[in-house]
Amino acid sequence: MNTKRIARIIGSGSYLPEKVLTNKELESMVETSDEWIVTRTGIKERRVAGENEYTSTMGIKAAKEAIENCNIDPEKLDLVIVATCTPDYLFPSTGALIQKEIGAVNAAAFDLQAACSGYIFALSIAKSYIESGFYKNILIVASEKISSIVDYEDRNTCVLFGDGASASVVSFEGKGLEIRDVSLGTDGNQSDLLILPGGGSRIPSSEQSLKDKQHFLKMEGREVFKHAVRLMEVAANECLSSAGIEGRDLAWLVPHQANIRIISAIAKRFALKEENVYKTVHKYGNTSASGVAIALDELVRTKEVAKGENVLLVAFGAGLTWGASLLTQN
Ligand code: UT7
Repeated sequence: MNTKRIARIIGSGSYLPEKVLTNKELESMVETSDEWIVTRTGIKERRVAGENEYTSTMGIKAAKEAIENCNIDPEKLDLVIVATCTPDYLFPSTGALIQKEIGAVNAAAFDLQAACSGYIFALSIAKSYIESGFYKNILIVASEKISSIVDYEDRNTCVLFGDGASASVVSFEGKGLEIRDVSLGTDGNQSDLLILPGGGSRIPSSEQSLKDKQHFLKMEGREVFKHAVRLMEVAANECLSSAGIEGRDLAWLVPHQANIRIISAIAKRFALKEENVYKTVHKYGNTSASGVAIALDELVRTKEVAKGENVLLVAFGAGLTWGASLLTQN
C-alpha cells in the first residue's frame, strides 16, 4: 500500500477591492495614455484598496472564502502563511492579524517575503510540511496593498500595479489540485532592479527619506522585463523536467500577471495556445504575490479543470526571485 502523503489545494478564495482605477483616470494623474498602457502592458484597469482596507483585511476576506469553499473548521488549521511585501506592519506579522480574525486558534502564523513569487514559495513550504507529516492543514494567503507603496506621480510604475488578495487551503486529505512539484530560485545580485528602499533598518523613515520618496517602490522596468522572461522559462523548465512532463502536457499555464507581453513570450516558449494561458492582467494589473493566486482561483471557479489535467504556475519578482509549481487535478 502506498502511504505517501499528498498535499493538495482543496479550497480557494479571492478578494478584489471594489474601487476601479482606469487608464483614463491615470491620464489625469501623470503624463500617460490609455493607448501606451494597453500596448506596452495589456492593462486596462486595476483595483485599489479603499480607505479602511489593508493587506490583512483583504487577506481575511479571501481566507474566509477559501475556508468556506472546502468547508474546513478553522480550528483544524496548523499554519497560516501570508505571502506579501506590503504587510500591515513590519511586526506583528500580517499572518498573526489574519490568524486571529479567522479563528485559526491552533495555527502558527508568519509572513513570507519573496515579492511577486511569494505564493509559489509558500506552496513549497505547505507541500513539504504536509508530505513530511509535520502539519496536516495549512492556509496560504497572498495579499498585497501595493497602492500603499506606489508613487502616483511616477508614470514608470503607477500604471502597472493594483491591490488584491487570494487564499488557498492546502491539506493532506480531500480532493483538489495536487502540488506535484515546485522549483524556486533567487539572484541577489539583481536586488537593486526592483526595490522599496525606505522604511527598513537601512533607511528608517525620516523627514529626509520621505522628501527623497524612499517609501515608494523603484523599478528598472526594461531590465526587469528581460530577466522576467528568461527566469520564468528557467523555473518552468526545471519544474516540468523534475515532474517528467513537457509543455504540451499542460492544460493551463497560470503566469505572474505583470505584463501581457511577458505572458505571451512565456506562452510562446512552451508552444502554448493563448486560450490555455489564464490571464487577469487586463483587469487587475500587477498585484504582486497575489497575482498568480488570484488567477488560479479564478481559473478553478470559471473553467472545468478535469481530473488528471496539469496546471503550471510560474512567477517572478523582486529579489530577484522566481518559482514554478506543477499542479495536477485529482
Ligand atoms: O512584478 C514584478 C515584475 N515586474 C515586471 O515584470 C515589470 C517588467 N517591465 C515591464 O513590464 C516594462 O518594462 C514596462 C511596462 C515597465 C515598460 O515598458 P517598456 O516597453 O520596457 O518601456 P521602456 O521602459 O523602454 O520605456 C519606453 C518609453 C520611455 O520613454 P523614452 O525614454 O523612450 O523617451 C518611458 O519614459 O516609455 C516611457 N514611459 C511611458 N510613457 C507613457 C514609461 N512609462 C510610461 C507611461 N506612459 N506610463
